[in-house]
Parts: sequence; structure tokens; C-alpha cells
Amino acid sequence: MVWATVNLGTLSDLKMTGDEIRNAFINFFEEKGHQPMPSASLIPAGDPTLLFTSAGMVPFKPFFTGEQTPPSRRLTSSQKSFRTTDIDEVGDHKHLTFFEMLGNFSIGDYFKEGAVAFAWELVTQRFGLDPDRIFVTIHLDDDEAFEIWRDQVGIPPERIYRYGDKDNWWGPAGNEGATGPCSELHYDGGRERGCHQGRMVAPDVLTGLQAAQPGRGMPPEIPGCHPNCDCERFVELWNLVFMQFYQDTQGARTPLPAPSVDTGMGLERAAVLLQGKSNIYECDLFQPIIQKACELSGTTYGDNPDTDYALRVVAEHTRAACFLIGDGVVPANEGRGYVLRRVIRRAIRHGRRLGIDPSDSAGNTSTFLAQVAEEVLAGFRHVYGELAENQEFILRVLNLEEERFGQTMDTGSRLLDEGLIPLRESLQARLQNGNLDQSEVHAVCEDAAGTMPDWVLQRVSQVLSEWVDSGEQGRQQLAGSLSGAETFILYDTYGFPPELTAEIGREHGLDVDMDGFHRAMEEARELSRASHVFRGGMEVQAAYENLGVERTGFVGYQGLTGDTVVAAILVGQPGETATAANSDGTDGLMTPAGNAVQGQRVEIVLRESPFYPEGGGQQGDVGTITGPNGEVLVEDTNSPVAGLIVHRGVVRQGDISLGEPVTAQVDRPNRLDASRNHSSTHLLHAALRSVLGPHVRQAGSLVSPDRLRFDFSHVTGLSSQELRSVQGLANDKIRDNLLVSSHETSYAQAVRDGALAFFGDRYGDVVRVVSMVDPDPDTRPFSMEVCGGTHVAATGQLGTLCVLGESSIGGGMRRIEAISGTAAEQLFLEQSDRLASLSNKLQTPVADLESRLDSYIQDNEMLRARLEVMERTALRSEAEQLLQQVVEVDGVKLVAAKTSASSPDAMREMGDFLKARLSSVAIVLGAVVDGNPLLVAMLTRDLVDRGLHAGNLASDTAKVMGGGGGGRPDMAQAGGRQPERLGHALAGVAELVRQGLAT
Ligand code: SER
Repeated sequence: MVWATVNLGTLSDLKMTGDEIRNAFINFFEEKGHQPMPSASLIPAGDPTLLFTSAGMVPFKPFFTGEQTPPSRRLTSSQKSFRTTDIDEVGDHKHLTFFEMLGNFSIGDYFKEGAVAFAWELVTQRFGLDPDRIFVTIHLDDDEAFEIWRDQVGIPPERIYRYGDKDNWWGPAGNEGATGPCSELHYDGGRERGCHQGRMVAPDVLTGLQAAQPGRGMPPEIPGCHPNCDCERFVELWNLVFMQFYQDTQGARTPLPAPSVDTGMGLERAAVLLQGKSNIYECDLFQPIIQKACELSGTTYGDNPDTDYALRVVAEHTRAACFLIGDGVVPANEGRGYVLRRVIRRAIRHGRRLGIDPSDSAGNTSTFLAQVAEEVLAGFRHVYGELAENQEFILRVLNLEEERFGQTMDTGSRLLDEGLIPLRESLQARLQNGNLDQSEVHAVCEDAAGTMPDWVLQRVSQVLSEWVDSGEQGRQQLAGSLSGAETFILYDTYGFPPELTAEIGREHGLDVDMDGFHRAMEEARELSRASHVFRGGMEVQAAYENLGVERTGFVGYQGLTGDTVVAAILVGQPGETATAANSDGTDGLMTPAGNAVQGQRVEIVLRESPFYPEGGGQQGDVGTITGPNGEVLVEDTNSPVAGLIVHRGVVRQGDISLGEPVTAQVDRPNRLDASRNHSSTHLLHAALRSVLGPHVRQAGSLVSPDRLRFDFSHVTGLSSQELRSVQGLANDKIRDNLLVSSHETSYAQAVRDGALAFFGDRYGDVVRVVSMVDPDPDTRPFSMEVCGGTHVAATGQLGTLCVLGESSIGGGMRRIEAISGTAAEQLFLEQSDRLASLSNKLQTPVADLESRLDSYIQDNEMLRARLEVMERTALRSEAEQLLQQVVEVDGVKLVAAKTSASSPDAMREMGDFLKARLSSVAIVLGAVVDGNPLLVAMLTRDLVDRGLHAGNLASDTAKVMGGGGGGRPDMAQAGGRQPERLGHALAGVAELVRQGLAT
């Protein structure tokens, strides 16, 4: 979003706060019969063509097209809006991502005349702007608007300018919707701000110049200033759109049911004018946030252009991130979550540039974004309740993302600052000398060793070599840009969004090869895909598309069995039988066939089917298809092509042919279990939102007959208390036996009714909404979700829901695993059986098991301690007896004996005792522990000095038992494999000592 700057010397006495302007706007239109509407979410409900709500009219699109009836034909709102186009520009004085758009809307009520009159009254009378400083723009062909401004408002024609489609035609928002010519109000900041020494081009002259251009565009040279001029004289305040057409996805326009009005005034821009400021960041909507960032960084806004830039990035992006998270967006690597990640990471980087080092002197790191965010929340939560409601969640998500990125950012930044960028500088220097060839590039890379990890340097050197080979253009490229491979490494390993790398590159005069980045990204994707894609995946899909079967009617909500006809059969390659399927359970390339025989793998398409195809997290049904001559066992059902249901399985008996009448029978217990688990996920979702807060959103799920898995957004682990409450609430709702019903409606209506929708999905126009409602009339549904899955008729059928566990799956997401119905009963039975068997074994009633076990554990500990004492005493007396077995070998005392020790430690203790008693001695003790012969060899210092080595002694002795070992000169350990040879081995020690002394 671009905002002009303007000098408003004459307006400095006009002071309205942002809150006052917002209220004044809404109140004014309420007095004029408009219904105030709350701001809709930044995630556009029911409009998969838009990433974010980007204007005030977006939530009202279905009203303009007549698809929905509005609550009133006059509406007004202050709508949270987000535009992604200018993220990288944020930091200058003009650009924003998030803004509040004030608007009034007429849905088939007033049209141009009414909109113009309201706008004029508000800006000149309520806001008190000088009427002589207001210029208006209209569409080239809009004579009607011209006459209204000139004749009814009294604006002199020399202040009414006409422009073409680029400037004065608006819409549609997204790929389709309402559109029409528009008229804008521009404020004149004064001749001294403008170009051409304050001289304006006359409107007629400008119109004539445009008429002479191809496509009636703007001429390259304009002999004077005008409202849309690039200079900073004018600021566009308000856009009035006269909605006249519906534009479809092909660009074709048809008249709307009734001409309508959509207007948009950026609150931030209005604040600049009404607060007499020179740019948006100086108005009260931003100053407290900027001041907070100043406080944290010890800087002063206005002191230095570089720090001012960084302060604006931190303030703008933190504000935007708070609103996005408040509406349920969490950082991710694609879609909306990626946009959020970009703005957060950019804010962190600019925070670091400001010198905000959140780690304390003890090296503990903390985070700063959340501290800035508190200021955002303080400024806006009284207007946008979701900020107050989700305050904690917003701060936690920011903290988490900062911690995550902080860890790798410093390493990544160093890689750029100390490695990749200096390398470019060396290349540039050599390029200037005119001799950049392979050997030069090699030399530069060699010099760079140590400034980056070796694997990165290798990759860089490879890319540079390729560029050198590709001629002059490549040589320029290699010195002046960062390659896609490097950008990918920074993204993949260090979490730098490519746009951030591009920004850092730009700061050093380097381009970034974005195409190369996307190629590197795609290659990485292919690699990971290749590891789990099944053979012939694309061909299988193509085979279905070529079958000529349009769709399968799904009749599985109503019943589990149905009589129908075989519409298509695909079979495996000749000779491929049931056992020849791929190891991952998928079939190889299947080809259309007229029939299939016993033992053959098949995929069957029916005209109608009660089999639920895998979707929405729920596994596909299993069952049988029975024809006049045979039966197919269906092992899985899915929908590889939209609308087509494919039954995969094997011909169990006889044969099956195209066109045959068959009976399709879904395995009933299997389906009912899956339905129970699917209904359970809805109960869990609603219970989680009720216990943890409305920020909880489903992020994915798996529903199989035996269990369910539910992933959702929430940053911290659930306490056992919270987990209990969630499970308890879900079970309350099971006992309340809520009625489960479904109906079809438009996606937009479903969301407006409050149904939870999985925004990642792209739903068709008509969706199914599943509600769980207390039979007691007048209660709101406990759960309402857009869902195509199968469900029970009433929650009582779930029996019991039992949560098995909860864990983190990263990125602010948690996972719950649970079971219900028969699986829950089965678990209860297994646990009971286990308890009964324990009670039987311990001869103790179940209620006393715990105390009985405690006393066993105590007894066990006591016995173990007593045993240790006894063992030590026994070994001590054994050691004392060994004193009798000392032999002399060439003047050296030697003890080599088998002991009853149960560990090497015990033998070492015995050895220490012997060493203490015989101040000079060689000791080799052995024992058989758990069936393995072990040895410990120990020498007193004087014997080591005489050339003996305990390690050699131990390993040479162990060889005799088929083993080995080693250790220090004075102490070593060894083991063998032949316990029966322990005695023999020990008998040889004397000879080994003799040899040791001799060498
Ligand atoms: N939809 C128009 C705009 O965004 C007016 O609200 O400018």
C-alpha cells in the first residue's frame, strides 16, 4: 500500500486521534442510516481466490453480486486489511502492509450522487478540511460523476481531473466480483511541495494527451503537476467506487443486479492529514510502537535515517503480525503463514540492526518482538476484540518464531556478511582487472576457505564455475548476484526467506537469482517427493481422466449398501496379481479392461457408490462389490480425480465385468468406527476451543476406524488439568447425546453462520456443514464445521472419548491422539484385564495394588542393599585368601586367580585390597559374569616402571579365551567368549609376566 507524504502546515491546529477519526467516520455514516459492521477476519471467509482481506468491501462481495441478502442496504465499517505487494518497501515513509480501511457501502441503495454528497460533507464539515484544497479525480468516461462534482458540490472544473482504467477503475478484489469506475478525493499539500514550480496542467489538456495515447494511457511527458503526479504535493484520501458490473474469472463483465457503492479511506492516511503530520509513521497510530522500539534499542526516532528505517520496519511488521496471528494465521512455509513468517523475520532482522540484543550479560537470550507487540495490543485491542482475546497466543507465537529464527539467524547472517558477500567483492575486484576466468574463480574460492562451511563453499564454487562457462553475461552475473543455490541454502538451512536475502543483497548492491532459487526449491521438492511417490502416479491419474466416466454419485451418507452398475474396471499389468502390488500398498500402472478374474488386482468405478473415498482426513471405506459371477474385496477407496470414486482391491472369487449389475456393500463395523472417530474430532475441536480459546484451529487430522489424530494451533503443551477438561467436556457432550445433522449451503454462508472451516482447503461453491446441537431447542450448536466426512446420528453413539496423548509437532502446532467407541471400550477391557492379572499375581485387591507395589519396591531396595553388604564381605574374605596364593615370578609377586565377583568393579576392589597389602604385585583376576569370562589386570607402579603393561597382560590373557581387551599400563580390563578356558588362561599369566619382564 503506498501513501504519499504531504506538508500540512496549515492544518497543524487540527488534532483528531486515530480513535476519534475512526469513531467520527462510523458515527457519521450511522447517522446517515448505515449499519456499522464489525471488521471481518484478515482471512477472507469463503473466498479462496484471495490470500488476505485487502479492502473494506471484501467481506461484502456476495452482497454486491446479489448472492446474499445484506442485513441493511447501507453499511459502514473499519476493516482490517493486508496487502502483500509492498512488504519489501516497508521501512520508507510511505508503505504499509496492514492498514485499517474506513468505508461506507450502498448495496443497491444510493449511487454516485449520494456517495459524493456524503464524502463531501464528512471531509469538509466533520473533518474540517479546507474545501479549496480538495481536488477530485474521475474516470475518463464518467461524465455523470463530472456533473455531480461540478454542479451539485460546486467544485470548479479546473480541479476535476480524468484518468483511465489504471487509476480510476477499481476491482474486482480477487479473481472475480464487483467492479466499476471510481472517483478519488486528493488533498493539496501546497504548490511549494510540488513539481513544475507549482504549475498545474489543465484537466482538459491532460485528458487530450491521454486520448492521443495507445489504450488511453498516461503520456510520458506531462506539462505540469496533477493529482496523481509522482511528486509529493497531493495525498489521495478517499476512493469512491461506483460498482456497476460483475466481472467473472474470464474478465467478462455483466451489469450488477443494482448499481452500488464501495468507498475506502485509509485510516492512517486520514490521520496524517488530520494530525498535521508529514507521514504515517508520525501519527498516533504508530508513534507509541516506534517509541517502544526506541526504548528497547536505545535509539531516538529522527536521529539517523538508517535507524529510522529499521524502527519503521519493526513497528509496521510487528503491528501487522499481531493482527494476522490474532486472526489465526501461524508462521509456515507456504500461503498466509509464509507471509506472516516473512514479516516477522524481517522485523527481527531490522531489530538486530538496531542493536536490540535481547540476550543478557549471562548469555540468556530473550525476545524483543513480543515487547513491541504489547504496545500494539495496548493501542488496538479496545477496537479489535480478537487481539484482546488472543493476546497470550499472539505473544507466544511471536516469541516462538523469534527464538527459532534467532538461533539460526546469527549463523546465517555471518555466512552472508563474512562469506558470500566478501567473496563477491573479491570477484568484482578481479572482474575490474578484466581477467575473471576459471582459475581466478578457483583462487577466490580458495581464499574464502574458513569463511563458510566447506559444503557451502563447494556448492558456491560449482555455481560460479558454471557461470564463468556461460560467457560474458555469466561473468557479470557471478560478481553481481547471489545465486539461487546460495539463496536456497540460506532458506533451507538458516530460515532466511529469499526476499530477506534479496534485501540484504540489495544493501550491498547485489541481485538475487530468484529463478535459480525457485529451481533449487523445486529440485529439493522433487527429491523428497521421489522418495514416496508411487510408481506411475501421474499415469494413473491420466488413466482415470481418460476413462470418460464423469462422476460417481456418492450415496454413502444415506446407507451402506447399494445396487449399481460397474462403470469402469482397471487391472494391473498382465501377470500382476494381488501379491505383485508395490510394497507401499499402492498399485502399479493400471489399465482399463473389460473384465477381471479371480486373484487379479483391480480398481473399480461404479455409477453410484456408498463407499466413502478417503478425504478430509478420513480413511476410505472397505467392503465388497458383488456381481452375478464373482466378488471383489475392496481394501481401500479414494478419489484420484475430483468427483470420481475408485474402489481398490482384488477379485476374491469368480470374475467381474464392465456394465454388470452389482451390489456394493460397505463393511459396516469399520465404517461405524470411522464415523465415530470423525464425530469425535469435531467434539474435540469444539472442546479444545472452549477450554483453550478460539485461537485453536484445526491444522490437519487423521480419522481411521481404530483411532484419530488431530493437529491444531496452540503454542504450549496442555497441562494435565487442561487435557482432563477437554476430555471431560467432550464426554459431557457425548452423554448429552447432541443431534448430529448436516446441510448444504454456500461456503460463504457457512462461514458467516459461524461454521469452522479448514481454510487451507479449497471448497467448491456448495459445502456440507455438520452441526452437533443439544436437542433442547434454542441452543447454539456446540460444534459446526464445514465437512464432507461421515458421522454418527447423535453423539451418544460415540460411547466414550479417550485421549491417549498430546505432543508438539513443531511450529506452534500440537497433536492429540484419541480413540472412541469400540476402541475405547477395548482399551478399558485390556486395562481391566491387566489389572485383574496383576491383582491375581500379587494376591492383592486392585484397590490395594499401588501400596502393595510400593512395599515390594521398598523390600527390594532393602534386600539389594543387604546383598551388597554381604557380597563385599564375602569378596573381602576371598581377597584375603588370595594372599595365600601369591607366587613369585622372576622376583615379582603375582596373584592370578578366578574369583566369584559379579562385576569388574568388584574385582577392581579386590585388586586394590591386594595392592594395599602387598606393596609390589601383579594381579590378574577373573570371573564369569552372566556366562562371559571377564578379566581385570592391575600392576603397582614399580612393576610398570620395570616394563610390565597391564593392558598387554589383560589382552594376551584374554586371547586364550577367544577375546581381547586393553587399558592403562597400571590397570586394564578384558573379556572373552569361552568361559571354560578361564582357568587355563589364568594359568598362563606367570609366563606372560616372565616374558614382559624380559623384553
Ligand atoms: N475497494 C476500494 C479500495 O480498496 C474502495 O474501498 O480502494
